[in-house]
Amino acid sequence: MVKTEKQLKEGEFWTPPDWVNKGHDYIDAIIPNWRQEAVVYDPAAGGGNLFSEYEFGELYCSTLLQEDVDTVAGAGYNAFQMDFLNDGYPDWFEKRMVQAAKEGKPLVWLVNPPFVSAKGGMKKGAKSTGISKTRVAAEMHRYNLGMASKNTCGQFMYKMTEDARRWGFKEVHLALYSKPNWRTGTSMVGFRDYFFRDWRFKGAFLFPAAEFKGCSPLWAVSFSVWSMASKRGVIEVKSMYHDCWKRDDDGVIEKTGVKRIYCVEEMPTPIVPAEIYDEFERDSLIYALYEGKNNCTAVRDVPFKKTLVRVKNNTFWRKIKYMKKAAEAVGFDEMLLDIKSEPNQTESYMATIIKPEVLSTEAKNLYMLGNALLAKSMATRQAFHQANPDYNLHAWDAGYYQLKYLWRENYPVEYEKLRTAFKKLQEKLVKNVYVVGFLPMTFWEAGSTPPDDYKDVLDG
Ligand SMILES: C[S@@+](CC[C@H](N)C(=O)[O-])C[C@H]1O[C@@H](n2cnc3c(N)ncnc32)[C@H](O)[C@@H]1O
Repeated sequence: MVKTEKQLKEGEFWTPPDWVNKGHDYIDAIIPNWRQEAVVYDPAAGGGNLFSEYEFGELYCSTLLQEDVDTVAGAGYNAFQMDFLNDGYPDWFEKRMVQAAKEGKPLVWLVNPPFVSAKGGMKKGAKSTGISKTRVAAEMHRYNLGMASKNTCGQFMYKMTEDARRWGFKEVHLALYSKPNWRTGTSMVGFRDYFFRDWRFKGAFLFPAAEFKGCSPLWAVSFSVWSMASKRGVIEVKSMYHDCWKRDDDGVIEKTGVKRIYCVEEMPTPIVPAEIYDEFERDSLIYALYEGKNNCTAVRDVPFKKTLVRVKNNTFWRKIKYMKKAAEAVGFDEMLLDIKSEPNQTESYMATIIKPEVLSTEAKNLYMLGNALLAKSMATRQAFHQANPDYNLHAWDAGYYQLKYLWRENYPVEYEKLRTAFKKLQEKLVKNVYVVGFLPMTFWEAGSTPPDDYKDVLDG
């Protein structure tokens, strides 16, 4: 079915079959026989993707649009039209849920709620739109859950929690597709406190949002399974592990790792003396220069709105004078021309702030290796540029993102050394994210300890 732009804006994303199946695999592992034994209810059913390929003992579904209800009911499902955030349930359904709870049946919410936020998203002061004026949002405001009420997913989660309790089910599970951000953002602390009183995390995975038609490749969708605690009660949740799944080049879905998603309560202020924090900052700066994903490039003559644009790379770390001398020494005419045409001959910002003499051993090692390779590779850079003009290596301020192609191909030994130094600095930085206090020490991986040199600081 092809959806219109408006429908996409209203959260009309159909879950692709592969990710429906993956979700079912996770639920199967957590709740045995759920399809046969539980009452399963999808309150944002759309075209019924989450259940249409499986057999169920007792399944109900409702959704906003009558056309979707007609399709799903036409396929033989118990489907009814309902705006979940504004309407009441039909009488027959309400009665059945109370009865099923009495019979001791488990309830499983199986849902991919619409991803729609009020204008301004979850930010304080976000403008009220239809979304933040639903009946459910009004109820959430009474309990000071205002921030979460500004998006439909938060509202669905609230209503599912309250209704499951009201119907009296003793065993309730929630299988939820959502953006992961309600778990991380500081603005959702209040909602998390509310949600974690009822729900216990059982398992989850992440997959690229681009698997949904029209969604950005830059964020991930989370599928998570939760079980309701027998009694409401506060528990502290700091982080949750998610398996990561991705489609490879052949279209096969494979596990690429595990990610820990942290519930960040407030932006921490550094808890260590200034000299340790300053070193962390300088290390981060050098690290950023050699992070292969930094996308920092210098490009020339990029067509934009009928002109050709010059993109300067402010993260290049050497000065113009140095590059001019290096280009003159090897007769790299294209680079000399590029330098000549640099407007105002302004230095790249990074070159003005890096002070090699105060760098840590690990950062200095990486920085020096990078400089050596930059210098050595001038000997073959012109020829490489002529063979590969797309990399724009004639730009005097071309960054690591571009240089790595030349270095990898023509200087593999030196390049390997550079990567080893990069990884060493990376390991140091990962530890120091905790030491400096960006993530609480309690998030430290089980079994690992803070680096020895910072023990005193932490104990103090
Ligand atoms: C993200 S889609 C998921 C559809 C389907 N369950 C799937 O996974 O492919 C969300 C669905 O919720 C429906 N919807 C949006 N707002 C709703 C509301 N207030 N009440 C019930 N359904 C709603 C949309 O029409 C859409 O079909």
